[in-house]
Amino acid sequence: VPMHLPWIDAINALKQQRGAVIMAHSYQSPEIFHGVADITGDSLGLAQAAADCDAELIVVCGVHFMAESAKILAPGKTVLIPDLEAGCSLASSITAADVLALRAQHPGVPVVSYANTSAAVKAESDVICTSANAVQVVESLGVPKVIFLPDEFLGRHVAGQTKVELVLWHGRCEVHEKFTAQQARHAREQFDAKLVAHPECPPEVLAEADFVGSTTAMGKWLEREKPARVAMITECSMADNLRVQFPTTQFIKPCNLCPHMQRITLQNIYACLRDLQHAIEIPADVSARARAALQRMLAVGR
Ligand code: 13P
Ligand code: SF4
Repeated sequence: VPMHLPWIDAINALKQQRGAVIMAHSYQSPEIFHGVADITGDSLGLAQAAADCDAELIVVCGVHFMAESAKILAPGKTVLIPDLEAGCSLASSITAADVLALRAQHPGVPVVSYANTSAAVKAESDVICTSANAVQVVESLGVPKVIFLPDEFLGRHVAGQTKVELVLWHGRCEVHEKFTAQQARHAREQFDAKLVAHPECPPEVLAEADFVGSTTAMGKWLEREKPARVAMITECSMADNLRVQFPTTQFIKPCNLCPHMQRITLQNIYACLRDLQHAIEIPADVSARARAALQRMLAVGR
């Protein structure tokens, strides 16, 4: 990627000057993931890294809820996101008022919210989970019934692995909901590929998969299995980033790009460090309650 080199060099120089740490989600483009990030990971990994971070300045290359989680767990630090419009269809599928209405409908039933939610929704939740720890988090509550939101497909996947009854919401990831079982079968039959899928995919797609897991879990599975050919049924950049790490594995499309993740570019990362924009600010009461829910998740672990 030589055409990106001047930007990468400029960002890394400015980053050092600012004493900043750049965190990038697995769905960021390879020039960001491999070129400028100090820490990479899934949404849980980035949340943990923010909680443990020594730097005063954190740049989150990912979507808004990830930057919010970093700020909630590192409230004394400056947390920047290069584009405030980098959203998420799951996070925008539910509001804090919706959570209160669900609580009124199901009195006494605890709320487990996926990390892909706003700080305001997290503040109304008992505990947060990610795709890496959803089953453990649900079971950690020791109750027969849980409100699980907002991802309907992740919820159905979790429900299949636990005896706890789940009340679900109708949120969808606009990237993963597009995959079809036919695409998955085609990749397997045409290319003799193993299928690895993110749990935000529809149930009929997950039924075809050899492995279902979070973005980090998918990477670990590849390390263990070292398949000759694999179709990563998830956001495209994931396979692009892993290709470098697994040179003997052939990566087969299908894939879809997340338009929100793609809003983050080398150009706006540079501007973010230069202008110290855009800082994440969360009202103190919302932040404190959301932090309690996130810390309950971190105590459960991966
Ligand atoms: P992970 O929790 O696997 O990182 O996935 C969350 C997601 O979909 C981010 O877009
Ligand atoms: Fe949200 Fe889906 Fe994009 Fe992840 S891939 S940020 S879940 S819309």
